[in-house]
Amino acid sequence: MKIGIIGAGKVGTTLGQYLKLKGMEITGIYSNTLENARDSAEFIGTKCYEKLEELVKVSNTLFLTVPDGAIESVWDCITEFDLNRKIVCHFSGSLSSDVFKSYERTGAKVCSVHPIYAFSNKYSAYEQFHKVRLTLEGEEEAVLAMKGLWEDLGHKVTTLKKEDKAKYHAAMSLASNHVLAVLDTAIRLLKDCGFQEDGAYEALNTLVCENVANGMKCGVVQALTGPVERNDTDTVKKHLEVLNRQDRELYQNLAGRLIEISKIKNPERNYETMEKVIGGNGQE
Ligand SMILES: NC(=O)c1ccc[n+]([C@@H]2O[C@H](COP(=O)([O-])OP(=O)(O)OC[C@H]3O[C@@H](n4cnc5c(N)ncnc54)[C@H](OP(=O)(O)O)[C@@H]3O)[C@@H](O)[C@H]2O)c1
Repeated sequence: MKIGIIGAGKVGTTLGQYLKLKGMEITGIYSNTLENARDSAEFIGTKCYEKLEELVKVSNTLFLTVPDGAIESVWDCITEFDLNRKIVCHFSGSLSSDVFKSYERTGAKVCSVHPIYAFSNKYSAYEQFHKVRLTLEGEEEAVLAMKGLWEDLGHKVTTLKKEDKAKYHAAMSLASNHVLAVLDTAIRLLKDCGFQEDGAYEALNTLVCENVANGMKCGVVQALTGPVERNDTDTVKKHLEVLNRQDRELYQNLAGRLIEISKIKNPERNYETMEKVIGGNGQE
């Protein structure tokens, strides 16, 4: 496999470096800004291309590691070149391979590849990349080739249906970004109670990390504790009384899910009163 990388950002540079270290052939890198392409090429130990056509010519696999909004225009550019039998992938979690419009006419084999990982630094993320699971979706031959590539390197791979891509990405966002929104709310409430910001983070650190670690290890049903799970309606009523409208709605929405988990954990308990409390602004 001769892999050409288009987009010298966090994902392109990380994958280039990681795959090169694993002995794969990286033909080169092309980017919007020549200087960025040069820096990444130097880091990876590959060639920097000034002309996209030349990189396409020497590669049989193209990684489009550009922002989601640029994938379609880069695809339009490369369809002017000979793509017959080349594998073309993008790395967006939310977009499917549908973005490769009329790919059949080009002879290219196309798919989307999503590494489940936050690439925060383009020069160091490759160090942790061995732990990453990837999801694939798209045309059969391209998916098979990518499955082979990543599984041979020891990665776990899951294949998705095209129509599930948006739901899949919503799940990823909930588990990573939305968790931060909940944390932000907790930090703000602690600051209302007199904590300094760093003190609030420090106070929550062990609680949050151990809770998440426990949930990931034993499953959320097993890990769940707290007033909803204990069916402690008086405490939940007090919480709802002191929250402003926006925070109360967030609390109520999440508590609704907690009741569902609690019913699985404690099938003998009756959560009807709790459901009324949660559903009615703290009033039974
Ligand atoms: N970051 C993550 O944690 C993460 C995780 C999973 C998947 N992804 C996906 O991976 C893809 C890349 O994300 P990223 O975080 O690596 O983005 P990024 O760091 O912003 O890098 C994108 C790179 O693409 C280059 N570029 C933009 N438009 C271009 C064009 N028309 N032609 C050639 N190069 C172009 C940029 O150019 P210059 O720098 O040269 O100006 C930049 O180097 C996205 O689809 C994203 O959804 C990201």
